[in-house]
This record gives sequence, C-alpha cells and structure tokens, in this order.
Amino acid sequence: FYYQKYRLWPFIMDKSVDNNINQLHPSKILDEMGIAWNDTIEKKTSQLYKKVSSVIPDIEWPYFAPYIEAINILKKEKNATILAHNYQTPEIYHCVSDVRGDSLQLAKEATKVDSDIIIQCGVYFMAETSKILNMDKKIIIPSLDAGCSLAASIKGQDVIDLKRENPGIPVVTYVNSSADVKAETDICCTSSNALEVVNSLDSDKVIFIPDEYLAMNIAKETKKEIIMWKGRCEVHEEFTVEEIREYRENEPGVKIIAHPECSPEVVDEADFSGSTSAMINWVKTNQPHKVLMVTECSMSDNVSVETPNVNFVRPCNLCPHMKEISLENILSSLWYETYEVIIDDDIARRALNSVNRMINL
Ligand code: 13P
Ligand code: SF4
Repeated sequence: FYYQKYRLWPFIMDKSVDNNINQLHPSKILDEMGIAWNDTIEKKTSQLYKKVSSVIPDIEWPYFAPYIEAINILKKEKNATILAHNYQTPEIYHCVSDVRGDSLQLAKEATKVDSDIIIQCGVYFMAETSKILNMDKKIIIPSLDAGCSLAASIKGQDVIDLKRENPGIPVVTYVNSSADVKAETDICCTSSNALEVVNSLDSDKVIFIPDEYLAMNIAKETKKEIIMWKGRCEVHEEFTVEEIREYRENEPGVKIIAHPECSPEVVDEADFSGSTSAMINWVKTNQPHKVLMVTECSMSDNVSVETPNVNFVRPCNLCPHMKEISLENILSSLWYETYEVIIDDDIARRALNSVNRMINL
C-alpha cells in the first residue's frame, strides 16, 4: 500500500512528465544525449545506488539511473545548482541535488551559490522566495503544477482587506505564501521562528496568515492575541490525535515528532515539534531507537538513509504538489531552462523587505 500510494504516485497520476507539446519527451532527451541503462551506467551509478538502496527498490534503479546520469552531466555543462526541499523523493534528494533543506534554508543558500541557473525542486512559493532573495539569478521550477494549499488560500488583496479591517495591527506571514502576499506583509516567519517573530512585535494583537493551525500552535505560547486566517496544509491536517495515540500504543518506546502545520491537538501529542530541518536535526542529534515523523512521506525515507540506527514508523501522507517534481521534468527543466520564475520588481522589492526583517531578527 505504501509503495502504491507513494513510490508509484507519479506514474499512476501520469505526473512523471509535463505534457508540454513543444518539448521533447524526457526519454527522447536521454536518446539525444546517448544515455541508456547499460553496464557502464550501472557501474557509474553504483555508489549512488548503494547509498539509497534501503529506500529505492532495485527494480526501479534501471529506470532512474539514466536520468540521474543525464541530469548530473547537464548540471555541470550549464553551471546549474539544484536545490531540493526535504520532501523531495530520495532519487532527487540524494542523487541529483546540491543543496538540501527547509524552505527558507534553500532560499538563503541560493544567495551563496555562484551558478548561472538554479533549479528549485520544491513547490512554487519556494521558488518565488528564492527569486525574491536572488533577483539577478535565473530561478527555474521543473513543474508549474507544484502549488501549495496554504499559499493558494490567500491573495495580496485579502491581506489589504484584513489590514483595512484591523488598522494598525502588524501582519506576520508564514513563508508558505505567494510573493504578492509577502509584499503586503510587515514581517515573514518560518515554522521554526514564528513564536520569536510574533513576540518581537510591539503590539498586543498580531495578524498571522495564512496557516490557521500554525497560528493556533503559536497562540498557545504567546500572550498576544492572534487574528487568524483559515489556510490549512492539506497534508498535515490529515493527521489525527486518534491515529497518533494508536501509533504510541502499538509501537512501544516510539518518539513522535510533528510539523507545526499539524493541528494543536496533534502537536500536543508529540515529543517535539519544528520545521522540517529542525525535525531532521532532532532525529540526527537524539538518534531515537524508533521514531514517527508526523509529516510528509518522503522525509522519513530521506533521513533514514543518513541515520541507519534509527527505525522509522512511516505513516504516509504525501504532498501531491511536491510529487509534481520528478527526475524526468528536472531533466527537461535543465535542457529547455523552463519554467523560469518571474516576479514584478515592485512586488519583489516589498516582499524582500518582509523576508529581510525576519532574517535580520
Ligand atoms: P519547512 O519550511 O518546515 O520545510 O516547511 C515547508 C512545508 O511546506 C511544510 O509542509
Ligand atoms: Fe504546502 Fe502542505 Fe505541501 Fe507543504 S506539505 S507544500 S504546506 S501542501
């Protein structure tokens, strides 16, 4: 069931490639590059496969390996850097990416790389954040369908209306939001620093958008009154207290760590809560015998490769938007340099102010 729902997701949903009729099918790009599964490719990629063999079945490797080889060649030729969010699948995360991390880390790392092209393997708001911090660089996302239910829940005009209804109240915006929403914001935050950002503001009331659950989790820990928005992460809102309690009962000694986009009731059941990178660091530092990461499917796979002594209990809620990114469309994105993220200069400048206020804090 796990493999049906997760590993085969792109194929079942026909999401492994973009249906852009003006572009060669990615398998034809492999033909153009003269790359196919054979003894040479098997030998060249054997070290990589050794690394990920615990999470990628050997039957899949002959399919992935030619794409991995082609992407790594093209990446060098074009002086490109690949950024991968912690929710990307292991063949992307461990085999073709140069920089890995949570949404903000990726954008910040993008400012440091000396590449002509940056390929963002994540969702659109992440590519936009990278662009906002790197307006002089070419930021590319392999699929325009990689959205986010939180970012889609609110537009710039909604923030303008909220400010009109609540004059003088500062607006804190979670980075899971579009550039035009960030542009109307006083200060951004991530799931790791949201409480610190809220407490830093000189006001008893704060507007916190768009994640209602993250806002509720912060409201439990601050004295400030929080005005919320009804945005939800469609992945994390699926987890229930009953489910978490059942895992605790059936898996004696399990440590449970949850992303703060989960409901406050679920976060209360957890031993630790933090951003995706904070969760990864927690596992690496604490090396629990058994852990349950209450978040997107691929995280456990990716972390398990680097923490062989930890046993992962794997509930599988996948983010369909993250799963829009595949080796196939990464190859096309490098070959055609599509799809470039473009942001209006004025929106980018104002959005940058709110991101920088957070970074400076
Ligand atoms: P992080 O910033 O913690 O990586 O979260 C991004 C995200 O989309 C979580 O669902
Ligand atoms: Fe958005 Fe949730 Fe997917 Fe993260 S996991 S990208 S918040 S829908």
